Amino acid sequence: MNHVLITGASAGIGEAFARALATEKQNLILVARREERLAALASELPDAFGISVEILVADLATADGAEKVAAAVTNAGWQLSGLINNAGFGDRGDFGELSLERQLNMIQVNITSLVALTWKLLPNLKAQHNSFIINVASSAAFQAGPNMAIYYATKAFVLSFSEALHEELRGTGLTVSALCPGATDSEFAAEANMTDTKLFKAGAMSAEAVVNEALAKRRKAIVIPGLRNRLMIWSGKFSPRFITRRLAGWLQA
Ligand SMILES: NC(=O)c1ccc[n+]([C@@H]2O[C@H](COP(=O)([O-])OP(=O)(O)OC[C@H]3O[C@@H](n4cnc5c(N)ncnc54)[C@H](OP(=O)(O)O)[C@@H]3O)[C@@H](O)[C@H]2O)c1
Repeated sequence: MNHVLITGASAGIGEAFARALATEKQNLILVARREERLAALASELPDAFGISVEILVADLATADGAEKVAAAVTNAGWQLSGLINNAGFGDRGDFGELSLERQLNMIQVNITSLVALTWKLLPNLKAQHNSFIINVASSAAFQAGPNMAIYYATKAFVLSFSEALHEELRGTGLTVSALCPGATDSEFAAEANMTDTKLFKAGAMSAEAVVNEALAKRRKAIVIPGLRNRLMIWSGKFSPRFITRRLAGWLQA
C-alpha cells in the first residue's frame, strides 16, 4: 500500500498537505514532535476519507531524527509514493545575538534532516511508479536575508539542492519540486518572532492556497505560489543583489 510521508504535519502548511492529500485518497505517514496533534489527524482523516494514517513522533533537530523516521518506514514495509520535506522553522534577529544552538538546530531541521531523509528514502520512492518529492523552500531562497541570515541561507540550500535533484532524476518517474511560498498564515511567524514585521503585516496567503498550488504543480522544478510572490521574485531577478538583500532586511527589520 502506497503512502505519502509529510514532515511537520502537526501544523500550518504540513497539516494542510495532509488534509489536501486525504481528499486525494492518499494514505499518509505524518511526522512531527507534537504527538497529540498528529494523533488528532490520525483519528479524524481515516473515517472521513477512507485512508490509512500512520504517525511517527520524531525530533528532526536531533542527529538521528531522520534515521529513526527512515528506519520506521523500512521496518513497517511502507511503500512511498510521495515525500514532503516540510518541517522547518526560522528565527528573527541579528546572527550574533540569536542563540547558536537554535541556529544550528535550524540547519539540522531545514537542511541536514531533509537531505538525510531524502537520501534514505530515495530507493523506496524510485521503486514506485510516478512518485514525487516536494521540498518546502521559501521565497527567502532567492536572496540573502539580513535579520534572518541562517534561515534564508537554509532555504537557498533547499532550492539549489531540489533543482539539481529534479534534473538528476529526470526520466526516472520520480520528480522533485521546490515549493517557495512567501508569507503564509501558520504558526511560523510567531515561532520566528516575525508577527510584527512589514512582511507579515502586508498579508499572508492561507496554507490551503499554498498547498493547492503546490499539489497542482507537483511535477514542476520550482513552484512559487501566489501572483504577488511570483512578481516579487521575478522583479528581484532584474535587481542588483545589494537591493534585494536590503529590501529583505527592511521587510523583516
Ligand atoms: N509560514 C510562512 O510564512 C512560510 C513561508 C515560506 C516557507 N515556509 C516553510 O514552510 C514550512 C512549514 O512551515 P509552516 O509555515 O507550516 O510553520 P508551522 O505552522 O510553524 O509548522 C512547522 C512544522 O514543522 C514542524 N517542526 C518544527 N521543528 C521540528 C523538529 N525539530 N522536528 C520535527 N518537526 C518539526 C512542526 O511540528 P512540531 O512542532 O510538532 O514538531 C510543524 O509541524 C517550513 O519549512 C517553513 O520554513 C513557511
